[in-house]
Formats: sequence, structure tokens, C-alpha cells
Amino acid sequence: MCAKPIKKEPKQVETTGHQWDGIEEWNNPLPRWWVWVFYATIVWGIGYTIAYPAWPLIKEATPGLLGASTRADVAAEIARVDEANASIKAKLVAADLNAIGADPELATYAQNAGAAVFRTNCTTCHGTGANGFEGKGYPSLIDNDWLWGGTMEDIHLTITHGIRNTTDADARYSEMPKFGVDGLLDDTQIAQVAEHVLAISGQEHDAASAAAGATVWADAGCNGCHMDDGTGDRAQGAPNLTDAIWLYGGSREAIIESVHFARFGVMPDWNERLSEDEIRAVAFYVHGKGGGE
Ligand code: HEC
Ligand code: HEC
Repeated sequence: MCAKPIKKEPKQVETTGHQWDGIEEWNNPLPRWWVWVFYATIVWGIGYTIAYPAWPLIKEATPGLLGASTRADVAAEIARVDEANASIKAKLVAADLNAIGADPELATYAQNAGAAVFRTNCTTCHGTGANGFEGKGYPSLIDNDWLWGGTMEDIHLTITHGIRNTTDADARYSEMPKFGVDGLLDDTQIAQVAEHVLAISGQEHDAASAAAGATVWADAGCNGCHMDDGTGDRAQGAPNLTDAIWLYGGSREAIIESVHFARFGVMPDWNERLSEDEIRAVAFYVHGKGGGE
């Protein structure tokens, strides 16, 4: 067989003069196509930095001759979507709160927009699933146990003005007395009335102590807010104490703490931060979570 040379004749190329263990380094020129591509990238790079925002200056980068701006693109895109939604938003604001669900187009829009508003503004306190943080004072919004009411009007009002905040004069307001802190009841009475609350909520309790607690309940005026039977009063945001759903916890300790220190849950008002169509959308979304009335 005739041996074909595998490489070009090595002797034609100069070596760099470097040598390692007898291995020499040839001084082969770079392939021409490679060199041209390399020059092309340099030219392209210079052209690009002239055409597009590139070099950082003190406050911002050089704008580039083409005036490209991703920020402006986003703003334009938002404006485009806003414009496309303008009519449905106007319709949502004008609609009767209870009629939103009956209009499929409106309902779909409110559901989606409401979910987005909720994700951005409400999940920090009410949880991503709107199921609250039981025992921490943040109510679940998916059950039918409402502090302030579960109709569209109720929910809309709660979201618009908030609860016990200092920023909206129309916020929902009520204040449970600090029975222990302010010395309205002594520790024994608090323990007794807590036993009564355990009894009416169907939990294990000491019967004698609970009976004494029933008297404390009436004398201290718990019924003025939580009603005689303990089922609560939505006009005052006073929770139902007879069910298994607790805002701050239904254990003996938690109930004693609630009576001793009282509770003062605060929710921000949203009328400054959200537009009316957003408030309506999120109210519709919450209402549709399962507990809506
Ligand atoms: C900073 C925390 C916080 C944020 C954010 C927040 N909430 Fe609340 N929310 C609360 C608290 C606390 C309560 C319960 C207040 C009370 O004890 O009466 C509440 C109560 C409610 C209620 C009344 C529940 C009932 O049982 O009557 C609704 C409805 C509600 N929130 C909806 C929303 C929506 C919708 C958003 C977002 C736009 C939101 N909340 C954002 C803290 C928050
Ligand atoms: C002026 C009205 C008012 C009076 C009087 C009142 N409460 Fe309350 N109570 C409330 C309100 C409002 C809340 C909810 C506070 C919040 O949402 O932060 C509450 C919360 C509670 C809770 C916590 C419930 C939960 O779900 O975690 C308990 C327990 C309780 N009250 C027991 C009593 C007892 C016992 C008395 C009488 C000694 C009493 N309350 C008197 C208004 C009142």
C-alpha cells in the first residue's frame, strides 16, 4: 500500500522555536475564514454599540442611534393591554356587584384580573391559597366563616376601606376590651370565661368552671359583641366562638390570651393602592373562592 501523508509536509511551516520534550510548536497561520469572521465580529460589535444602548455613562448608558429601549417597549405593551381592557374595566366598574357573575365575559375577566391582584397584594397575609394563617390572626378567605360578612357588598367594603387601620376613616372598626391588661377581669374570671368558650365550642372543659364562666360571660358583656350564644356579630367583626374555626387559636391558652390581651387585627385599605376595577375584580375572586354568600 502506498502511504498517504496524513498531514501537510511539516517542513514547509516554520516552528515558533518552542520545544517541549522534543515536541515542537508549528507556526501555522490561522485559517483565513476564521480571521475574517473574527474581524467581522469586531465590526459588528462596534456597529452594535453605536446603534443600541451600550456604554455605561454616569447616570445611564449611551442610548444608541436606533433609540431602542426595553423599558419603553414594556410601557407600550402595558399601555396596549390597558387600552384593550379599557372597555371591560369600565363595564366592571359600572356593573351591579351581584350581576358580575351572570355576565360570562365580565366574570372571566374579573376572575383572572382578581387572581392577579390577589397574588400581588394579598398573599403575604392571606396565603397563596387564600386559606390564611390560622392562629396568627390572618383569616382564611375560602371558608364560609366570615368576620365581617361574605356577600359581594361586604367583601367589597372590607377590601376598599380595610379593617382597624389608621389610614382610612371609613375602615371597619371595633375593639375588644383588654380584660386582663386593663383589670376588667381577674385571672380566675378569665380562666372561667375561657372554660365557657371551650364549652360552647364543643371542646373538652371543666363543667363547674364553665358554669361560673357563663356568668362572667354575661356580666363582662362578652355577649354584647359575641352574642348570648357566642355565635358572633358581623357588624362588629366579632368572631363566632362556637365553631371549630379560630382566628387566633381555640386552645385554652390561646383563648385566655385573647381575653387577657384582646385582639386587634388590622388590614390595610386598598382604595389608595388599587383602582375600583381591581378592587371589584379581587372581591369577585375572593367571593368565588367557596365561601361567598
Ligand atoms: C397586611 C396584611 C394584610 C393584607 C396585605 C391583606 N389583608 Fe385582608 N385581612 C388582614 C387581616 C389581619 C384581616 C382580619 C382583620 C380582623 O381581625 O378583623 C383581614 C381580613 C380580610 C377580609 C375579611 C374576612 C372576613 O372574614 O370577613 C377580607 C375579605 C380580606 N381581608 C381580603 C383581602 C384582600 C382581597 C387583600 C388584597 C387586596 C387583603 N385582604 C390583603 C390582613 C391583610
Ligand atoms: C366590644 C366587642 C367585644 C367584646 C365586649 C368582647 N369581644 Fe371578644 N372579640 C371581639 C372582636 C372584634 C374580636 C376579633 C378581633 C380581631 O379580629 O382581631 C374578638 C375576638 C375574641 C376571641 C378570639 C377568637 C378567635 O377566633 O381566635 C375570643 C376567644 C374572644 N374574643 C372572647 C371574648 C370573651 C370571652 C369576651 C368577654 C370576656 C369578649 N371576647 C368580649 C369583640 C369583642
